Amino acid sequence: MFLFGEHAVVYGKPGIAMAIKPRVFVTVRQTKRAQRAKSPYIDGCFEAMGVLGSVYINSQLPSSSGLGSSAAVTVATLCAINDEFGKKKTREDIANMAFEIEKTVQKGRASPTDTTVSAYGGIVFISNGERRRLPPQNIQLVIGDSLVSHSTTKMVEHVSDLKKKNPTIVNPVLDAIEAVSLSAIHHLDNPKELGRYMNMNHALLEVLSVGHPQLSKMVLAARSAGAFGAKITGAGGGGCMIALCPKPLKFRIATAIEGCDARAVVTSIDTEGARKEKNV
Ligand code: MEV
Repeated sequence: MFLFGEHAVVYGKPGIAMAIKPRVFVTVRQTKRAQRAKSPYIDGCFEAMGVLGSVYINSQLPSSSGLGSSAAVTVATLCAINDEFGKKKTREDIANMAFEIEKTVQKGRASPTDTTVSAYGGIVFISNGERRRLPPQNIQLVIGDSLVSHSTTKMVEHVSDLKKKNPTIVNPVLDAIEAVSLSAIHHLDNPKELGRYMNMNHALLEVLSVGHPQLSKMVLAARSAGAFGAKITGAGGGGCMIALCPKPLKFRIATAIEGCDARAVVTSIDTEGARKEKNV
């Protein structure tokens, strides 16, 4: 899930993402014949690994919400295939393969952010092919799902069109998002400051027209209820927002978000990333 830099990362700018507690569980079984999954991401996983199988997915993440659920499903499916078929791929191989699959499904436009964070867990800084794990922090979040569905591919296309039409506006906004991300890295342990950078990032995403009235309402409600900061997370246009919270106010902020006809999930950081649960 993006803390900073969504959309800008598609243009080579840095991004900061964090793995969160809701998980995706994937079970894979070998089959003799190819079984078409409902998702192009899953078909991509079997193709990339060169095996045939069926898959069972149990996701705690809302899909199409902008929380990187496609990345989480792709990474978890690759890990499950790796395990079931004894493929010996490393975590890094899996992160790379998942990125290639996302890129293909999203028509060439994707950043390796969500796939990296799903594979490794914790907080990850992505910049120009560089992936660096940042020290895990005690980040207390409430995620608000607007329940407005959106398409990452469409939102990415939308920004690309806007950039072509208005380069003199959009390019400086992407530069400003980069500056926000680069400053935020130095304040990961200071929620007050970090919240301020989240608010700035949100405003810049609004300029890129990836906002939504429902998301704006939720962001304002979270801030009024005492959040240090709140912003869209992911592609926008619907999907989710996040609020950085003082721990004692998490539930008050969640209630304020739910008051906007949205769903709230109280969460914190996941430091483990993809893992094998148990033999089933
Ligand atoms: C979507 O979760 C985030 C975007 O930056 C696209 C990407 O990074 O692949 C909009």
